[in-house]
Amino acid sequence: MTQRKALLLVGSPRGIGHSTSDRLGSVVLDALKGRSFDTEKLHVHAVMDSPAAFESALAAIGACDTVILSLPLYVDSFPAPVIALLERIAERRVGAGRVRFSLVIQCGFPEAKHNATALAIAERFASEVGWEWLGGAALGGTGGFAKDVGAVLAPVGEAIADGKTVPEVASSVPFPAWLYRFVGNVMWRRQAKKQGATRSLRARPYEG
Ligand SMILES: Cc1cc2nc3c(=O)[nH]c(=O)nc-3n(C[C@H](O)[C@H](O)[C@H](O)COP(=O)(O)O)c2cc1C
Repeated sequence: MTQRKALLLVGSPRGIGHSTSDRLGSVVLDALKGRSFDTEKLHVHAVMDSPAAFESALAAIGACDTVILSLPLYVDSFPAPVIALLERIAERRVGAGRVRFSLVIQCGFPEAKHNATALAIAERFASEVGWEWLGGAALGGTGGFAKDVGAVLAPVGEAIADGKTVPEVASSVPFPAWLYRFVGNVMWRRQAKKQGATRSLRARPYEG
């Protein structure tokens, strides 16, 4: 049997070793390693910064059975270098008909549902490029607060190893959502005051 290969793409500008995206994605990758996959990890921003790294990343992706993209939610979508990489992959149809694809995504707001649009974008990408979409694990509250990330995400890795749709993950934050909103509003008002924009906080410049 040929060796199965899994690649983790870390899509946070904070990179490998410093980001929540790396921490969570690595839990999933480790589950695949435990199931005898050859594993590799790349930082998307570094890949998009160098033509040589970009070409070797495309070669690595094309040689994979499984790609896991672990990233933070940015403005209900993906960080720009991640979008650029996915566009290049789609143009060249790298790994078409071969790669199984899954997402690990986490956002700052406590509710994981903010990731829904990004999950839909990933699914659409998979369909355009001819990859098999296995679904994604979405966490709220920066994911980093999830108490036992290992227990939460290991089943995701197991499902990906088996080529099955990933189970929904239950992420929890150790504080109530209203408290997050309360502190968030205090911070926004403070920033607005600093910028002399207190009266514009409820402005809707694109309305009507
Ligand atoms: C430019 C930018 C845009 C963001 N947009 C969102 C957003 O739309 N919704 C949200 O809940 N969190 C948003 N966040 C918060 C990040 O998703 C969150 O802090 C995440 O945990 C960072 O993960 P990382 O350590 O892997 O970079 C944003 C953060 C930044 C810096």
